[in-house]
Amino acid sequence: MAREVRHEATAPAVFDESDLAEDGKLFICRCGLSSEGPLCDGSHRATEDEAEGVVYRYDADGESRRIVEALELSEE
Ligand code: FES
Repeated sequence: MAREVRHEATAPAVFDESDLAEDGKLFICRCGLSSEGPLCDGSHRATEDEAEGVVYRYDADGESRRIVEALELSEE
């Protein structure tokens, strides 16, 4: 499985103690769907039923998705 996610950030994030969870851990999003990025907000649960070998495109709200049939790259 894979997913296409659009990001607009152009600079690194800075963390402090207020970003830590109650157990003192810092959870970094790796699914690309968090609206609190780069911190995990639980949105990864939407990926739990993704099938192997399928590419998904999620809408900005992270609540709906489509299967990407083919990726085309532009020469521009
Ligand atoms: S890993 Fe992306 S929201 Fe949790």
